[in-house]
Amino acid sequence: MTKKALIAGITGQDGSYLAELLLNKGYEVHGLIRRASTFNTSRIDHLYVDPHDPQAKLFLHYGDLSDGARLVTLLHEIDPDEVYNLAAQSHVRVSFDEPEHTGNTTGIGAIRLLEAVRMSGVKCRYYQASSSEMFGATPPPQSELTPFYPRSPYGAAKVYAYWVTKNYREAYDMFAVNGILFNHESPRRGETFVTRKITRAVARIKAGVQQHVYMGNLDATRDWGYAPEYVEGMWRMLQADEPDDFVLGTGTPYTVRDFLVTAFEHAGLDWEKHVRFDERYLRPTEVDALIADASKAHEKLGWKAIVQPDELARIMVDADIEALECEGRPWIDQVNLEGWIK
Ligand code: NAP
Ligand code: GDD
Repeated sequence: MTKKALIAGITGQDGSYLAELLLNKGYEVHGLIRRASTFNTSRIDHLYVDPHDPQAKLFLHYGDLSDGARLVTLLHEIDPDEVYNLAAQSHVRVSFDEPEHTGNTTGIGAIRLLEAVRMSGVKCRYYQASSSEMFGATPPPQSELTPFYPRSPYGAAKVYAYWVTKNYREAYDMFAVNGILFNHESPRRGETFVTRKITRAVARIKAGVQQHVYMGNLDATRDWGYAPEYVEGMWRMLQADEPDDFVLGTGTPYTVRDFLVTAFEHAGLDWEKHVRFDERYLRPTEVDALIADASKAHEKLGWKAIVQPDELARIMVDADIEALECEGRPWIDQVNLEGWIK
C-alpha cells in the first residue's frame, strides 16, 4: 500500500526537503499551499509532474492554517497516513512586528490542524514543528527535559503549539509528536535568516555587486545544522513505535560572528571590511544561546547530525556563489531585499 503524507508548509525550506525525502521513499505526497498573487512554489518546482500523468505522486491543495474548515475538508479528501505541520510565520524578528498574525498561524494554526485530524476521524500520525526558540532564556545545553522560557511572540506561539500537540496525544490517544529542532539551514533557507543573509551577501560582495551587509547582534550563539538531515529526523519520529518528543541539533555552539568569519574567509574576504551594524536587526528580547543535547534522538531514533556549522557555512557560500553566477547579470536582475525587510 502506498503511504500518503500531507505536508503543511511544503513551499518552505523544510517542506521542500521533506517532500523530496518522502517521494524518494515511494509516498504519495500532498502539500498545502497558500494562494498568492505570484508563484510561491520555487523550492518544489523541480518535483513537479503534471497531475494528469499516472506517475504523478505530488499533489498541491490550496489552504491556510487560518482556515479550519478547509483543513477538515482536506483531511477527509486526502485521508493521509502522516501529517507534517511545518507551516508557520517562522521569522522571530518579524513576530515582534506581527505578533497577532504569528499567534494565529504559528500557535492556533497547530490546534486547527490537530482538530481537523480529530474531527475528520482520519487515522494518521501527526508531526508538529516545535522549536529550540521555546527554550529562549533557559541556559544550554537544552534537551527534552529543559523548561521553556520563550523570548518572542514566535517562541510563545510555538510553546502553545507544543502543548496542544502533547495534549491531543494524551486526551485523544493520537500519535502526535513534537520535533524540537534547533536551527537548521541550507541553500534553500529564506534570505532574511542570518545564515543565508550572510552567505548571500558574501556571494554578492565577492561578485562586486554589493559592498556592505548590515547586521544586528553578532554575539548570539546558535546550533546550526543542515536541513536535509533534519527532515530525515522528522520522518523517523513518525515511524517510532510510540509517540514521543525529540530534540534535534548538532550540539556545536557557534556564534553569528563565527559564521561570518567562516563564510567570508571561505570566499577569500575579510568580514570586518564589509559588515556594518544596524540596530533595526536587534530584537526587543534576544535568545543568547541555544545548544542542543540531542542524545535521546541518537539513542531512540539512531539520528545524529553529520554536517557541522563550519561545513554548513561553506556549503551555503558555494551555493550562493554558484546561484549568482548562473543568474547572468545579477546586479540588474536581483533585488536586494535586506534594506527594507528584516
Ligand atoms: P519557512 O521556510 O519559513 O516555511 C514556512 C512554511 O509555512 C512556508 O511553506 C509558508 O508558506 C508556510 N505558511 C506560513 N504561514 C502559513 C499559513 N497561514 N498557512 C499555511 N501555510 C503557511 O520555515 P522552515 O525553515 O522550512 O521551517 C519549517 C517549520 O519548522 C516552521 O514551522 C518553523 O517555525 C519550524 N522550525 C524551523 C527551524 C529552522 O531552523 N528552520 C527550527 C525549528 C523550528 P509560503 O511559502 O506561502 O510563505
Ligand atoms: N535574521 C537576522 N538578521 N538575525 C540576525 C541579524 C540579521 O541581520 N544579525 C544578527 N542576527 C542574530 C539574531 O539576533 C539571532 O540571535 C541570530 O542571528 C539568528 O537569527 P535568525 O537566523 O533570524 O534565526 P532565529 O534563531 O531567530 O530563529 C530561527 O531558528 C529557530 C530555532 O531556534 C528560525 O528558523 C525559527 O523559525 C526557528 O524556530
